[in-house]
Amino acid sequence: MAELLTENDKRSCYCAELTKADIGRRVCVMGWVQKQRNLGSLIFIDLRDRSGIIQLSFDEQTDRDIFDAAYSIRSEFVLCAKGTVRSRGEGAINTALPTGEIEVAVDELKVLSAAKTPPFEIVGNSPVRPDVRLRYRFLDLRRPDMQRNIINRFRITKLARDYYAREGFIDIETPNLIKPTPEGARDYLVPSRVHPGKFYALPQSPQLYKQLLMLSGFDRYFQIARCYRDEDLRADRQPEFTQIDTEMSFVTQDDVMRVHEGFLKYLFREFYGIDLGGDFIRMPYAEAMERFGSDKPDIRFGFELHNLSDLLSGCGFGVFASNIKPGSSVRAINVKGGAAFTRKEIDGLTDLAKTYRAKGLAWLKKNEAGEVSSSYAKFLTEEENAAIAERMALSPGDLLLVVADRDSVVFDALGALRVECAKRLHLLRPDDYRFLWVTEFPLLEYSEEDGRFYAKHHPFTAPMDEDIQYLESDPGRVRAKAYDIVLNGTELGGGSIRIHDAELQSRMFSVLGMTEEEANEKFGFLLEAFRYGVPPHGGLAFGLDRLVALTLGYEDIRDVIAFPKVQNASELMTGAPARTDDKSLAELSIAVTAQED
Ligand code: AMO
Ligand code: AMP
Repeated sequence: MAELLTENDKRSCYCAELTKADIGRRVCVMGWVQKQRNLGSLIFIDLRDRSGIIQLSFDEQTDRDIFDAAYSIRSEFVLCAKGTVRSRGEGAINTALPTGEIEVAVDELKVLSAAKTPPFEIVGNSPVRPDVRLRYRFLDLRRPDMQRNIINRFRITKLARDYYAREGFIDIETPNLIKPTPEGARDYLVPSRVHPGKFYALPQSPQLYKQLLMLSGFDRYFQIARCYRDEDLRADRQPEFTQIDTEMSFVTQDDVMRVHEGFLKYLFREFYGIDLGGDFIRMPYAEAMERFGSDKPDIRFGFELHNLSDLLSGCGFGVFASNIKPGSSVRAINVKGGAAFTRKEIDGLTDLAKTYRAKGLAWLKKNEAGEVSSSYAKFLTEEENAAIAERMALSPGDLLLVVADRDSVVFDALGALRVECAKRLHLLRPDDYRFLWVTEFPLLEYSEEDGRFYAKHHPFTAPMDEDIQYLESDPGRVRAKAYDIVLNGTELGGGSIRIHDAELQSRMFSVLGMTEEEANEKFGFLLEAFRYGVPPHGGLAFGLDRLVALTLGYEDIRDVIAFPKVQNASELMTGAPARTDDKSLAELSIAVTAQED
């Protein structure tokens, strides 16, 4: 039976705040039972709260009633315990615990709540299936590492608020029920009761509102903003996630990048005590692709891509020769130390390359004794093989991986292979933080499937001045004033300088295949606003979940989100999404045409 807390039950401190200096002090602690140990005439209970653990001790000789009460206490019961702090007996000291030299000799005890046996033990390293963890997230969150993650997330968010406030950014809330303007990811829609047949969208980001706030003269805006995107989930994507969202007026790219670089340096100094050093590397998109096969390169290791096409024109190997043409290429990476990979391991790499649509993976190994084996060398001349070896700086212990295909496939496959090989060779230290800016992104991306261009970032991103002339004639070659901040192969944030001219914005909409009517229908308010005096402006948004996960050493952002969703966008604990009743649907004028079983 649950006992009640009264006005006399005042907690004096958190469990793990107690130290040897408190010996002799009478205290009141509250928390959950980590475990109870019964040693005959003595009972020990580890009591846990968000600070950690303190041992409670109960002695049959001293107080029979309390001893009996302690006897029936089980894991995860909630207690209020009062008593005196004392030194543990010789040999009872637990050096693994910060409070391991002391305990509380309990003389008053209340069981505030009993508990069922939990489906898993509340400890740091219990091997629990992810779905069970999420089904019982309220228990999972009791585990010390989850407590630490969520608290650290708060501290990082707090540092962000401190930094941006100090830099003159004003925190302004923007609406969560907005006009649907599908572009990019799919919207989550919310039906309107008052306007039958009409819908709000949940924001994919506060993009348009923050631009309008610049137009309104707030000069510098930031918000810890909730964003919603109905897209396929991965380890670094959730349907709802949080951005540190910002926008600034009267700035160029360099101004924006410097402010945010300043934040990351501040965060690392304050939170980790790490000095990130001088200016972050800035690398144009084209260079990132050429060298790393990725627009978010992990630069903790080498294995850079090299183009072999010029060495192989007219070569006798059809797979290579047929890809020496514009838009296609033969490229390779040199995996230093990769000669140790077995045939089976190389087959695994081939399978990985195929998931990126590569038709195969050609390889060449030079072992420590200098002997060469290869899947392709026999098809090439001695000169061609020598030229490749020279370009790739081949030496004993190396493994060359070669892909011949369309450029996009070559980049994707080799980009993924270099990371996979680095993983296998244990080259990826999570505490080696290599930030870089990727700049000069293409403004537009062509979709073969839809036969049209899409904005690579979003339709409000400004083209680079010198490329505006190609907007209509050669849209694919226009570069944007857009920049991503990348850490160890993950895109942490992205932003751009915006178009601040109604004419140019209209041209952009037209390049994206919108008629004037469509553009006005969707974005008329923006085009109109742009006629009332717009400061040049730009901004950036960090993915807060990614920032926290990556800097704390996690690959999955679910580890730093209190109540995340799973792959199919449902929440296992509450069962969301769920059906609703007919009355609610009728009020919303909604007819359901298909239902999940
Ligand atoms: P963008 O779409 O690049 O830019 O998003 C910015 C950052 O948000 C994070 N992010 C996500 N995190 C978790 N789950 C997701 N589904 C998800 N999608 C994105 C990423 C990403 O870098 N309005 C622009 C910003 C701007 O131009 O100022 C925007 O939203 O870390
Ligand atoms: P094959 O002549 O089909 O046995 O191919 C010889 C080698 O080239 C094998 O290692 C294949 O995996 C590899 N290969 C096939 N297609 C490609 C490609 N598009 N790029 C790189 N290697 C390839």
